[in-house]
Order: sequence, then C-alpha cells, then structure tokens
Amino acid sequence: MLAPMAGYTDAPTRVFAKRYGCGITVTEMVSAQSLVQANWQAKELLTTFEQGPVAVQLFGHNPDHFAKCAQMDCLQKFDVIDVNMGCPVRKIVSNGDGSALMGNVKLASEIVTALKNNTDKVVSVKMRLGQKSKNAVDFAKAMEQAGADYLTVHGRTATQMYSGVSDKEMVLTVAKAVAIPVFANGDVKTVDDFNFYTQNGCHGVAIGRGALGRPYVFAQIDGKDFQFDLQSIMEEHLQQLTKITKENVAVNEMKKHVAFYMKGVYCGKQLVIDAMTAKTKEEMLCYIQKWFKDHGTYCIGRT
Ligand SMILES: Cc1cc2nc3c(=O)[nH]c(=O)nc-3n(C[C@H](O)[C@H](O)[C@H](O)COP(=O)(O)O)c2cc1C
Repeated sequence: MLAPMAGYTDAPTRVFAKRYGCGITVTEMVSAQSLVQANWQAKELLTTFEQGPVAVQLFGHNPDHFAKCAQMDCLQKFDVIDVNMGCPVRKIVSNGDGSALMGNVKLASEIVTALKNNTDKVVSVKMRLGQKSKNAVDFAKAMEQAGADYLTVHGRTATQMYSGVSDKEMVLTVAKAVAIPVFANGDVKTVDDFNFYTQNGCHGVAIGRGALGRPYVFAQIDGKDFQFDLQSIMEEHLQQLTKITKENVAVNEMKKHVAFYMKGVYCGKQLVIDAMTAKTKEEMLCYIQKWFKDHGTYCIGRT
C-alpha cells in the first residue's frame, strides 16, 4: 500500500505507485465535514486516475458526517473508505480529529459503525500506537469490534510525530491481537522491511516517505523487472498536475516532488534550486530538460 501523505500523494504520485505494482493507493486526507458542506477544494482531492483498489481517506470527528459522506456520489468510485485516526498535527488534533480519536475509543468506534451502516465498501482505520501512551492493542480490538475490515498501524505514538524509530515489535503485537488484516507502517523502505512484517503476522505494509521520488520501490519489493526514467517521470508528473489544478498551484506542488526525485542523484541539487524559481509549467519543463541535457539521462531498473 502507498501510505497517504497530505501534499504529496496526489493523483499522479498514486498512478506511478500503481504502475510499479503498488496494491492499494490512498488519497490525501479529506475533511468529512468539508465534503458534507460541498467544499470544492476538498472535492479536488478526490481526483483519481488510477485503477482500483483505491481508498479515500476521511478525517473528522462527527459520525453523522462520515455517514453522509459514505452515501455521497463523489465517493462511490472508491473501493475503501479509510478513517484517519493517526494525524498528530495540532490543528487537526485540537478539533478532536486524527490521532485525538485514539484517546476517545467510544467516538472512534461510532465513526466506524456509522460508515459500516451506510456503505457496503471496505472500511479501514489508519492508527498509531497511541497518543502519548501506547493503547494500540486495545484500540485495534475496539476498531475490529466496531466493524473495521483492516487496519494500517504506524509504529509511533502521536507525540513522537515522525521522529524516533518506528516500534516494529509493537506493530506485530497489534497484528497478533486482531483477526483482521494489518498493514504495518513506519520506516518501511526495503524488501527486508517488507519480509520482516509479512513473515511475522502482518498482511502487508504501507510505504510513505520511502516511496516519494521512488515509486519503483513497489517493483523492488515484488521482485519484478522495472525501468525508471527520471526525466520522463518528472515531466509526466508535471503534465498530470497541470491537468488537475491551476498552473501556479501545479508548479508549486511539483517543486516538492522534484526535491524527492533528485534526492541522492549526483548534482541533483542544482535542479532542485532551479525548480524553486519556476513560475510557469514551461519554465519548470525547461529546467528539467536543461538538467538532463547537461548531466545525461538517469535511468535505473532491473531487467
Ligand atoms: C508530509 C506527510 C503527510 C502525511 N499525511 C498523512 C495523511 O494525510 N493521512 C495519514 O493517515 N497519514 C499521513 N501521514 C503519515 C504517513 O501516512 C505515514 O504514516 C508516516 O509517514 C510513516 O510512514 P513512513 O515512514 O513510511 O513515511 C503523512 C506523513 C507525511 C510525512
């Protein structure tokens, strides 16, 4: 699975992940309340080009909003409705959303039940090990009891945010405590990480940062042949972004992606710096093309 990352797992990123063999992709988190209020920016996040299975991730704290969302036309193209119960960001948690739900098991259960009562779709929960203390085992059991079909478990507490090391053993303990499938998440980057989890009771893994700029990680895990041409993937990413949002927004979004695509590439920093100054799609394309003209093609793969 490609783990959801707000501001990063846009529609093109998800298409590339699928192209290299990713199973489930998940949209960036979308506010259940905004969807109910027909907010167009929230709806833009629902743009999908990839073929299923695709999950839409909702955040919120009002079971009625989730129930209404489950019945909305714009959600019917998705295979899974995933509930964000892991986001540690202050403005989300202070509303009682995201990881705050791990401190309110009753409300979290009501949200899952509200979804299950209003859709035949698969319902999943993305959670952490807890807020401050690690209540993941009891919480996971409660989500299973409420009707969740699978769980994605990030091996950190909300207080840890993204620092420290993901607690692999605790993720396995959660997986063993429930009968529903568990996808392990947190610091998964290699075939060894994948094997560790899947050989010890997890159904699969969700890869976040490890897939940014390197969608081929899914092919590496599958042991499949692949070809990855950095220039063409960046150009395609930019073209796709300009199809789904305004040009200036697409160009700004692309700057973040260029930084990930060029990470670890010899002399790649120059393109990252140039891209930061781009104001139009044409300028961004020129910088990309110039870099590859100066430095040669950059292809990796396994055949
Ligand atoms: C920039 C960023 C945005 C994120 N946005 C979301 C999100 O919208 N929903 C969510 O459930 N998790 C979100 N996460 C958490 C990731 O899905 C994942 O749980 C976390 O990064 C740990 O996995 P990793 O080590 O593979 O990156 C985000 C993480 C990052 C770094």
